[in-house]
Parts: sequence; C-alpha cells; structure tokens
Amino acid sequence: MLQNKLAQLQQAVTDREGRQLMRQPVTVEHYNGRLITINGQPYLNFSGNDYLGLATAPEVLQAYADGALKFGAGSSGSPLVTGQHAIHRQLTETLSDWLGVERVLLFSSGFAANQAMLHTLAAKDDTLLLDKLSHASLIDGALHSASNMKRFAHNDMSALARLLQQQPQSMVVTEGVFSMDGDSPDLAALHRLCQQHRVPLLLDDAHGLGVKGTEGQGSGPAQGVANNELFCLMANFGKALGVAGAFLGASKTVIDYIEQFGRHYIYSTALSPATCAAVVKSIALCRKQNWRRDKLHSNIQKFRKLAADLPIMVSDTAIQGVVLGSSEQAAKASEQLKGVGIWLTAIRPPTVPVGSARLRITLSSQHSDEDIALLVQQLRRLLS
Ligand SMILES: Cc1ncc(COP(=O)(O)O)c(C=O)c1O
Repeated sequence: MLQNKLAQLQQAVTDREGRQLMRQPVTVEHYNGRLITINGQPYLNFSGNDYLGLATAPEVLQAYADGALKFGAGSSGSPLVTGQHAIHRQLTETLSDWLGVERVLLFSSGFAANQAMLHTLAAKDDTLLLDKLSHASLIDGALHSASNMKRFAHNDMSALARLLQQQPQSMVVTEGVFSMDGDSPDLAALHRLCQQHRVPLLLDDAHGLGVKGTEGQGSGPAQGVANNELFCLMANFGKALGVAGAFLGASKTVIDYIEQFGRHYIYSTALSPATCAAVVKSIALCRKQNWRRDKLHSNIQKFRKLAADLPIMVSDTAIQGVVLGSSEQAAKASEQLKGVGIWLTAIRPPTVPVGSARLRITLSSQHSDEDIALLVQQLRRLLS
C-alpha cells in the first residue's frame, strides 16, 4: 500500500513535469518592491501583488517591530480562547470605519476567509452561483459546503440572470478584480440583479482593496456599491496592503453567525498581533497617501498606451495579461525576459484554462517611466 501510494504520487509529479507544468518556488534574496534579487541577480519585478509599495514602507516595518515587542510575535491561541489581543480589536475597528461595514472577523489568510465565507454561509438547499474564473479558494469553499454549486460564464450578466430564474434560492459569488485577467464585473448591475431576485451577493475583493475607491475602500465603492450593500465582503492584507492575513466584513448578523459556526475561524490560531499592528499602519498610509494610488493608475495608463499595439488583455487594473497560448510558449517567454533582467512569471494551467497560458504583468506605484518603457520594449521584441 505504502509503495503503491508513493508510486502514484511520483507518477503525478512526473506527468506534470512532462507537460512543462512543474512549478518551483524561487528564493528571493532581497526585495524592495521594484527590484528583486534571485541567485545573486537583480531583476525588475513585474510579478508581485504589492501594488502600492506598502510591503517595504518604513512606517509599516516599524509598526511590525513595535507590534511584536508590545503584543508578541504570535497570538498564542484561537480567537475564541485567548488569541484575540487589543490590537486585533483595533484592526477590526479600523476596518469597519474605513470600509463602512458593521462587523469584521480576521483570518490568517484569504484562502481561509473565502473557505469560511462559502462553507459557513451556504446551506443545503442553497445554490452557490460562482463566476467561471473564480479563485481556487472560492471553488474549494463551495465544493466543501453543503450546497450545490453552479458556474456562470465570466462576467456574463445574462447567463447569471438565466441561472437565477432556474435557481431562486441562490447566493451569487464574484470578484472585484479577477486575479489572472485583471478585469472586473459590472458590480452596480450585479447588485441590482441580486436585489431583483432577492439573493445575497458575496464579493472577493483581494485585488481591489487599497487600489480602487477614493481612499482605497475597494471595487464596490469605486462602482457606486457601498460595502455594506454586499451580503459579505472578503479581502486580504497580503496584496495592496503589503502584509498578510484577511478579513470578512458584513452585517452584525452575518458576522455573528460566522463567529459561532465558522470552523476556519474557530479552530485556527488567530493572526499574529505583530501582523495586525503592521496592517493597522498600512491601512492608515493607504487611506491618506493618495499619491500611491495616483502613481499606480498613471503607471497603468502609461503601460496600456505604450503597449496598445501588443496583444494585451482588456484591463484597467494593475494586473495586465498577455496570452500566449501554450505552456511552452509562456515558459519560454518568461525565461527570455529573465535574460534581460525582467522578472515576470508565466501562468499556466491549471491556474488558467488550457490554451491560455500567459504572462501576468503586475504594475506597482514603485515602477518608474523607464521601467515601464523597458518592459514594453522587451515584450514587443518577444512578440514580433
Ligand atoms: C482573488 C483571490 N482570492 C483569494 C486569495 C487568497 O488570499 P491569500 O493569499 O491571503 O490566502 C487570492 C490570492 O492568491 C486571490 O488572488
């Protein structure tokens, strides 16, 4: 049995290798947002999610260190035992105030928060309707829940409307900014449709928080839908806020329920207090330093203008995709860019559908005009 199991595992890895789909972590030796050093070699970094450069903001680093000294490195327990410290409270209050949601629960990752949201809230007689390109954490959360799951064509309101006719007891799940395509649904229309059918709308705004909205309150407010009009909002602290962890925000009733029945919340060590202290500081900077968002948006416009003749996907966000097709083509292009000092990861199936392997470019407020010009110049050379 043991040998059979090992042979089965080895076979799966070998198959993946044979299809050029092996993924290996690289070790980053130095990181400052714009530049990363790998194997002693500096690269221009176009592959992270630190959209506003907050992961290395000196004030955030200082808050992390001070937080650890004051509150401890670890929380030492699950939140409902003794894992909740004063700084957790401060972080949830900060989030409620910033985002306009009644109550907030903290999680150690966005993956766990999404799982908790769908697993806990969807009951046996519900149908979860998920966008076709939903993140793996949403798909797994739905699959592990007691409810049925159906997928609707990406950002397609008519397809969703048809499903809602057939499945009146539904909950609709989508993302503010899709992580691999960088596009967004029409949230105002989606919200109206959900209201018409009297069904809850659940939003994963991992890539919208901090970046969208006048103070970075996310994709909903940027499209005229207040966060408190959503049934439940998930966003994480490891993208634009540059730290780690995540939260669910909603009405008191929804959050009270998840607090009592959410297994990913109850049976898991609370977020580190040092992390919470860093996130509180990061939010303060994110809210008031509009120049970070302005710079990011101007970089996005610059990139799109310079690359207008290239086959880039439609997106007005920091995530810009260039679909190449096969995994081999994407891997080769990524290697060629590394050769000229640009770090840009190839995204291959199963992360994206077969035949749509791509280069996923992420822009940040830290890139200069020259960085963007160099990227576009090298992309053009590669694609011509
Ligand atoms: C859309 C989306 N949702 C959820 C997650 C998971 O968040 P975390 O990395 O905090 O676990 C990610 C991150 O990969 C994501 O892109």
